[in-house]
Amino acid sequence: MKIITVHELADFKGTILIPVFETHVKSLVPIEFQGVSVSSKVFYGKKDTSYHSDKYDCLHLFIGLGKTPDYKSVFTMFRRISLRNKEHFNTNTALVLPDGFQAGLAEAAFSGLLAGTYEIGHFKKTDSHPFLREGFELALLAKGNYTETADRAFRIAKAKLETLRLVDLPPNVATPQYLAKWAMEAGEKYGFKTTVFDRQTCVQLGLDAFLAVAQGSAREPQFIIMEYTPDNLTNGMKHIGLVGKGITFDTGGLNIKTAGMLHMKSDMAGGAAVLGAMQLVSDLKLDAKVTAIVPACENAVGNMSFLPADVIRSYSGHSIEIIDTDAEGRLILADGLSYLTKNYKPDYIVDIATLTGSSVATFGYECGALFTNNESLSKQLQQAGDDVGERVWPLPLWEAYRQDIESEVADVKNFSGKPVAGAISAAKFLEFFTAGHTAWAHLDVAGVAFGDDEFAKTKHATAFGVQLLTKFIENL
Ligand code: BES
Ligand code: MG
Ligand code: ZN
Repeated sequence: MKIITVHELADFKGTILIPVFETHVKSLVPIEFQGVSVSSKVFYGKKDTSYHSDKYDCLHLFIGLGKTPDYKSVFTMFRRISLRNKEHFNTNTALVLPDGFQAGLAEAAFSGLLAGTYEIGHFKKTDSHPFLREGFELALLAKGNYTETADRAFRIAKAKLETLRLVDLPPNVATPQYLAKWAMEAGEKYGFKTTVFDRQTCVQLGLDAFLAVAQGSAREPQFIIMEYTPDNLTNGMKHIGLVGKGITFDTGGLNIKTAGMLHMKSDMAGGAAVLGAMQLVSDLKLDAKVTAIVPACENAVGNMSFLPADVIRSYSGHSIEIIDTDAEGRLILADGLSYLTKNYKPDYIVDIATLTGSSVATFGYECGALFTNNESLSKQLQQAGDDVGERVWPLPLWEAYRQDIESEVADVKNFSGKPVAGAISAAKFLEFFTAGHTAWAHLDVAGVAFGDDEFAKTKHATAFGVQLLTKFIENL
């Protein structure tokens, strides 16, 4: 999909999308475009409303923006329009932007249109969306130049589409090796370097916490490392380290899940967000060095599964007492974080993971939980999230919570054993493996990475984190 800028639509035949700001239900002036007008009694631009009118060989699709639209609502409205009106885009399609339409909102609109091509029926025979057709052109009528905005928006949407697909694919397809292959291919295509450690290499390196989780599964674990280096790298540029949880399926292990297991193909959503962010960071050629790690494996039940009460080692050298095999995400992240700090020494570290049910109990489906001891990093991540409609909100890492993970037999234990403060004690566990790094943040996205919305009838991916991480890096 690409845009071509036009200066008028007088002789245009086809579908015309016309987003309009909210006026007033009692407005005497109707909303109008090229002789097609709508009485405000019928449509006045209210958020989440639209009005279709068929006149002069054109389908006019008026889209209500509301009074003061934000990034997320514009993205969602355009995604909806794109998905629900598939049949109307098999013709010429135009978009008319209101005068002075903010570039940020235009970005949300363009990327929403492309994101609307996404459908979760990856194994069904369905016609692909017209926007995905080779050479599809959207005619754009606007005061001002939106070419760069559209180009950027399409790159954003492309990265999100990849993440959506990776998360929604079933666990027998999106295996650790599948994710590793994706990272290799995306690295080739977008320009980052990918290295993958298989089980044997991980054994040699001593990534024991990661291996403990992987040992119950016949599927080969893959420790994926991606490095993006800008062409014009300078000393002043920042180096960001990312770590994403890549559990391709979480059965709970021997502490097997009694609820919610069906949705646990989404337990690699943090990893998929990191993969999508790597694609986007490279595609946008951002001025920062980024090193990302996605430890990918399955938490399976098998005769080799690790046991509750096991004491294992980790890459950091610390020993870990296993209280619960379902607290596996923090184990693979521990090795991811240690490997990153020891071998790459980034200026900032952000990890992202569907880590705890507790974070869902706390924040529901509205925002991710943010943990960091670095006040400015906290603000930067919140700001980035607000900018793109992927919000995060802080929870504490106070020393008082340290006792929750203190073990009598090992250096640390992987679960407090208590049904309280689960997201916080998980974060405290991760902190233990950051080697005192002063700019580390942890995002627990269990509530926001996968869920219900209008875009499908069953729970599905949101690609939460792709834009948040990219925006954070871009803003640094
Ligand atoms: N993958 C889950 C967390 C999760 C829960 C993600 C709901 C998405 C939705 C994680 O590995 C897990 O099992 N966490 C346990 C930890 C507990 C055993 C300490 C939890 O939160 O219950
Ligand atoms: Mg688990
Ligand atoms: Zn998990």
